[in-house]
Amino acid sequence: MGGQAAGRGGPIVEVSVPEFSPNGRAGEILFNVNCSSCHGANAAGSEVGPPLIHPIYEPSHHGDPAFYRATLMGVQAHHWRFGNMPAVEGVSEQDVDMIVRYVRELQRANGIF
Ligand code: HEC
Repeated sequence: MGGQAAGRGGPIVEVSVPEFSPNGRAGEILFNVNCSSCHGANAAGSEVGPPLIHPIYEPSHHGDPAFYRATLMGVQAHHWRFGNMPAVEGVSEQDVDMIVRYVRELQRANGIF
């Protein structure tokens, strides 16, 4: 199986990885520390969390505020059967900015929007 460190049992979707902008690269590091344990390497999903590189999370359906809200307050399960997402502590708004940049660059490279 894949050999990616992060994400148990993933990936759920196939993700191709683009050249990131500097902010996107900073976001990747933050994502790998704070989010990939559930959302998987390259945000491709895992056994315990959904892929964010998915039409559900395109900007017009889950805009950037959804990322701030999810990180700050957690998420009640409603799209998937992984259970709730707990709030993630120690991640600043600026960190989320970078994470959003990273996820959007991945989404764009994979034709999500
Ligand atoms: C402990 C596991 C876990 C971690 C860690 C985690 N998530 Fe989640 N996240 C989930 C699950 C599960 C869902 C899906 C909930 C559902 O069924 O809709 C989710 C959903 C989301 C959503 C969609 C919110 C919505 O409004 O539907 C966003 C955005 C998100 N996560 C971003 C992040 C970011 C950014 C991080 C890191 C800072 C992160 N998550 C860390 C488990 C996790």
